[in-house]
Amino acid sequence: MSILFSPYTLGRMEIKNRFVFSACEDNLADEKGFVSGACVRKLRNMARNEIGLIISSHLFVHPWGRTRTGQLGIHDNDTLPGLQRLADTVHGASGKIVFQLGHAGSTAKESVIGRAPLGPSARDGAMNETEIRDVVRAFGNAAGRAADAGADGIQIHAAHGYLINQFLSPFFNHRNDSWGGTVENRFRLLREIVEETRRRLAPGMALLVKMNASDHTPEAGITPPLAVDYARRLAGLNIDGLEVSCGTSALSPWNMCRGDVPVAEILRGMSDSKRAAAAAALDKIRHAFGPTEAYNLDSAIRMRPVMGHTSLFAVGGWRHVAAMEAAVHKGETDLIAMCRPFLREPSLVRKIHNGKTASSCIDCNRCLIALAQGFPGRCYRKGLPESGG
Ligand SMILES: Cc1cc2nc3c(=O)[nH]c(=O)nc-3n(C[C@H](O)[C@H](O)[C@H](O)COP(=O)(O)O)c2cc1C
Repeated sequence: MSILFSPYTLGRMEIKNRFVFSACEDNLADEKGFVSGACVRKLRNMARNEIGLIISSHLFVHPWGRTRTGQLGIHDNDTLPGLQRLADTVHGASGKIVFQLGHAGSTAKESVIGRAPLGPSARDGAMNETEIRDVVRAFGNAAGRAADAGADGIQIHAAHGYLINQFLSPFFNHRNDSWGGTVENRFRLLREIVEETRRRLAPGMALLVKMNASDHTPEAGITPPLAVDYARRLAGLNIDGLEVSCGTSALSPWNMCRGDVPVAEILRGMSDSKRAAAAAALDKIRHAFGPTEAYNLDSAIRMRPVMGHTSLFAVGGWRHVAAMEAAVHKGETDLIAMCRPFLREPSLVRKIHNGKTASSCIDCNRCLIALAQGFPGRCYRKGLPESGG
């Protein structure tokens, strides 16, 4: 039997195989940010198809940390019945579910949150002490709701240029108080959130973190050596697992999701005045992010020595079963986390079990652009619909 079908214990959570559906926002929430029937159907389909661990879409913990209108929330007790339905649905198909908790920071849109967005530094709407404390508390309350909803764990979203990533990153964080200025201080928000959320979890729930090994910002943000330092600190906090990613959704989405830059679809969503300049800029970069197998694996390998017994897994670019098996065999990654391949083929795990050797995802990245343009999360390999989402 392939090692990919061997069970794995993450914290105290038993996963039936090594496959993880990495968090995937999908524009499927209703206008209040509550669970819709479409959210339930999506996760039921994933769980019925034998994916060992499902990480939910990125749930906003605070109304000011919302990415877009269709994003699911965990910011309010009224979200609980829907979230409970999600957990029950996945458990009903004998899967495991972890809720990903996040705050969009300065990437939140004013039109969505109804106020200027907040971030660590002046350029991004510098947060004051009270606002930071509010965010830590909001993560704690969200963890309590995840426990009440019956989730098997939480994943703190500290990657992709959102609020926690912004505090960790010297590119975004220019503070000189106790929340910035040194590595220790820049790590403080994540540390306090880990400590606060842990207090609110039910016994046996896993506490995971998703973090960038490389921000790919115009000037240095998190770089691999800094990421190793942060990984050591996270292991010291006894988290159960770290998922390694890269890139920021606003500044370097093509590092986060390597592959094609879908120029026609991007231009279609722009006003006439912006289109010409954008077309020239996109043309220059469109072939710069050629797909690479497991493009965050090297970063995970660098982190492994400082992680002790903490589980570690890389996401990004897993497409060939031989590469997955080799990396798990060598102990370079404990799990195989994928996003776009499962949008393309929710039944990929079953297919691999039956002998399929590679994902059919071609990294066209239309799914990512569709998300930004408001379409429901799914594979758009054949193109986006004509009208806006
Ligand atoms: C449509 C779409 C939505 C995503 N939403 C999230 C999200 O909610 N949270 C998150 O941490 N990453 C999100 N990601 C990033 C993926 O989890 C993953 O890190 C990235 O796609 C690389 O993995 P892959 O090559 O297997 O797709 C999203 C990616 C895509 C394409």
